[in-house]
Amino acid sequence: MQRFWLTSKLGKLSFDLQCHLDSLGIDYVCTQKEIDLFSLDSVKQFIEAHQITHIVNLAAHMKIDLAENEQKDMAYLANGDIPPVLAKAARDFSIHLIHISTDYVFDGMKEDPYKEEDVCHPIQVYGKSKRLGEQKMLEVYPSALSLRVASLYGAKRPNVVSTFIEKMQKQEIVHAIIDQTSSPTFNQDVARAIYDLKDQSGILHFVNRGSASRFDLANEIEKLCKEFFVPIVVKQILPIAQTSSGFIALRPVRSVLSTEKVEKILKWKIPTWQEALRTYFKANYHDQQ
Ligand SMILES: NC(=O)c1ccc[n+]([C@@H]2O[C@H](COP(=O)([O-])OP(=O)(O)OC[C@H]3O[C@@H](n4cnc5c(N)ncnc54)[C@H](OP(=O)(O)O)[C@@H]3O)[C@@H](O)[C@H]2O)c1
Repeated sequence: MQRFWLTSKLGKLSFDLQCHLDSLGIDYVCTQKEIDLFSLDSVKQFIEAHQITHIVNLAAHMKIDLAENEQKDMAYLANGDIPPVLAKAARDFSIHLIHISTDYVFDGMKEDPYKEEDVCHPIQVYGKSKRLGEQKMLEVYPSALSLRVASLYGAKRPNVVSTFIEKMQKQEIVHAIIDQTSSPTFNQDVARAIYDLKDQSGILHFVNRGSASRFDLANEIEKLCKEFFVPIVVKQILPIAQTSSGFIALRPVRSVLSTEKVEKILKWKIPTWQEALRTYFKANYHDQQ
């Protein structure tokens, strides 16, 4: 019998994973800070009490700009220290651990998509803390899986797509960053991948196929808004540089992840980012057609 433990209950990816597990009829429990994830004893007691077979670590400090200065310690704690605690517990019970990592472990200077074995060189505290957590986890328990994903959006808002739509509904001019390219990825696909990769180990990359700058993404969103009769007032989408965006933390200029490895394991074809975005619109704006 399988029983999953999702270490975040209220997080965005957690929401879509819960929906996916519900649809498969898979048993799971979720927690949101009521278990001290820094305490090996608490984690072990929870695993034992609930007969957990798979842990999915979705708990993370995600405030990327705050992590640069005032919340640096919090970021290192949540992203760096929780994964090895979970790894020790998972190792001791010989159960599966799936940890969610990020494309921000890379500096974004590679022209081609990043492969799993490429050298990591994070350029902001968030990425450094996530890389540390991933490394420590795999040192403790090489059978764990670190699944690197990127630019997520899904049912829970706000997300990168819903934020662009809201801006397009309020503003005639919307700015979108041109020098930040990745693979916008739909949580529904990530949730499916997490379940299908639950028994894998090491590092794997999973994103929707293809690549887009934030500017490309905004243009595709505008196109789909028109197609799905989502009322918008935007007249112009203007490209801007990261440096004019108000971001504090640097984002990688190009952090496209290669899915070559994961495609050989999964028994389904990963949708392109455009296909996935269309599915998101169908799910959310279907009534307006
Ligand atoms: N969103 C993206 O674009 C993206 C891209 C690449 C990778 N990822 C990775 O995907 C995973 C899921 O992200 P998400 O988009 O679902 O982010 P999210 O919505 O911010 O979820 C993260 C959750 O972790 C919780 N959390 C933080 N510290 C915790 C602690 N000490 N103990 C227990 N829970 C804690 C947060 O609670 P509070 O909000 O109350 O602190 C939040 O509910 C993360 O590992 C993230 O690094 C996300």
